[in-house]
Amino acid sequence: MYLSIRVRLLISYIAMLIVPVFLFLFALFIIGLAFIGDIENITEDYQVDFKGPQSIKNLMNADEAYFTELTYVAKYAPQKLEDPEFLREMDRKLSRIRSGLIIRKEDRLVYTSPSLKDPSIIRALLAGKNNHDREQIKIGQRRYSYKQYHFLTENHKEMSIYILRDLSPFAHIARRFFPVIIVVLLLVLAFTNGLLTYLVSRSILKPLNTLKRATERIKEGNLDFQITPTSNDELGELSLAFEKMRQKLKESIDLQLQYEENRKELLSNISHDLKTPITAIKGYVEGIRDGVADTDEKREKYLSIIARKAEDMDRLIDELFLFSKLDLKKLPFTFEHVEIMEYLSDSIEELKFDLEKHGIEIRLTKNIGPACVIADREKLKRVIMNVIGNSVKYMNKTNGRISVNVADLDDKVRIQIEDNGSGIDPEALPYIFDRFYRTDKSRSTLTGGSGLGLAIAKQIIEEHGGEIWAESEPNKGTVISFTLKKVIESKKGVTNEKDSDY
Ligand SMILES: Nc1ncnc2c1ncn2[C@@H]1O[C@H](COP(=O)(O)OP(=O)(O)OP(=O)(O)O)[C@@H](O)[C@H]1O
Ligand SMILES: [Mg+2]
Repeated sequence: MYLSIRVRLLISYIAMLIVPVFLFLFALFIIGLAFIGDIENITEDYQVDFKGPQSIKNLMNADEAYFTELTYVAKYAPQKLEDPEFLREMDRKLSRIRSGLIIRKEDRLVYTSPSLKDPSIIRALLAGKNNHDREQIKIGQRRYSYKQYHFLTENHKEMSIYILRDLSPFAHIARRFFPVIIVVLLLVLAFTNGLLTYLVSRSILKPLNTLKRATERIKEGNLDFQITPTSNDELGELSLAFEKMRQKLKESIDLQLQYEENRKELLSNISHDLKTPITAIKGYVEGIRDGVADTDEKREKYLSIIARKAEDMDRLIDELFLFSKLDLKKLPFTFEHVEIMEYLSDSIEELKFDLEKHGIEIRLTKNIGPACVIADREKLKRVIMNVIGNSVKYMNKTNGRISVNVADLDDKVRIQIEDNGSGIDPEALPYIFDRFYRTDKSRSTLTGGSGLGLAIAKQIIEEHGGEIWAESEPNKGTVISFTLKKVIESKKGVTNEKDSDY
């Protein structure tokens, strides 16, 4: 599933909000469960407190004791009840049992515990004055039990002592566990945010690191590895693009190396092909010099061999020149409209006599009407010569036959030159148009040739905007086919031809 980084960040931010809330609520629930025992205990205490007088002594003796102490003080040392030091001390003790103290003198409050500084409490307390009674009052959400004691001072001032005990345990619990809750909240926040940040940043950093390593490898010139995208997002796409770039780079480098290899091979082939006739020439010259050719007849023979070898070399160098000029596209082409059937029958007529000497019959199958092609007459002749030359050279039958067929293919004309010669091995077939390629690996001079013939033919046909290909069956024969663009006369007489910048 495609998840863009933006969406992922969004999800993570939402999760950072929602997950802590849920975790926090869960934590509260757990804490609550843990403390429910506490709460039940406490409420149980109070339940007993409300209903079971038999246990009052046990449960209430703490504030009962303080109350008694205070009434005692009221009787025997009432001035102490106005001593802040004493009152604070008393209040501290009371607060330990969740109780508080209020002292009133006439209309003035002498002392009020901080937890009881609520006007509604005071108002409720002052409403009833019945000594020694344990009462309960409910103020807002809170319930208190209280005891009160009223007395007159020596100078007839009314004084009251109230001791209140908080019966609402929740507030107390809340107060006690508030810090715990805060800590839990912070922990939960830190945990979820940390985890999500880690997960999101890892999903971004991991592919980035992979890419970084890949660039380093490429920098070192190592292209033989694969970058597999680890995530399905923008970074995954980047990884894919990177992988494609790596492949292209590798391809182009390989191609470069291939070119380099070809160039080396070309050089070595040229040297070899030039060296062979030179060696032969040197040998025969030596023969004449040393007097091995001691008769005029022999000398004449040697000289004619030398002349033939020199011609071979000359031809080879010409072909090389031609090929490299074609290769560099430096050979000018003169394209004209050529009536193809006429052109072919003329060419064949020229060859006929020569071929008959080799015992080869040549035939032109005229099966199309008049058709004009765009061609460079001279170069096209070269193609035909090369192809028919091969058919002659590789003819292994006594009743050699070459047939030239022409077919009209709408916008082009296809010419096929078919022979019943030796044929070409299927493994060799794809390479015969490569320069210097010869199926005869030994490069013996028996059949002659440099392996440039078909390479030159291919260059020329391609320059014409056509195609050339071969079909062959060993020992049966070979068909070399090529196409040429046809001239299509439009109604206005404007011709459709190859770009006229030639
Ligand atoms: N008609 C054919 N019959 C059999 N083999 C052929 C035929 N045409 C080409 N070949 C094979 O293809 C190879 C390449 O042909 P190409 O014309 O390029 O070179 P070549 O004839 O050996 O040398 P060059 O043409 O330069 O004198 C030949 O060496 C030959 O083995
Ligand atoms: Mg040839």
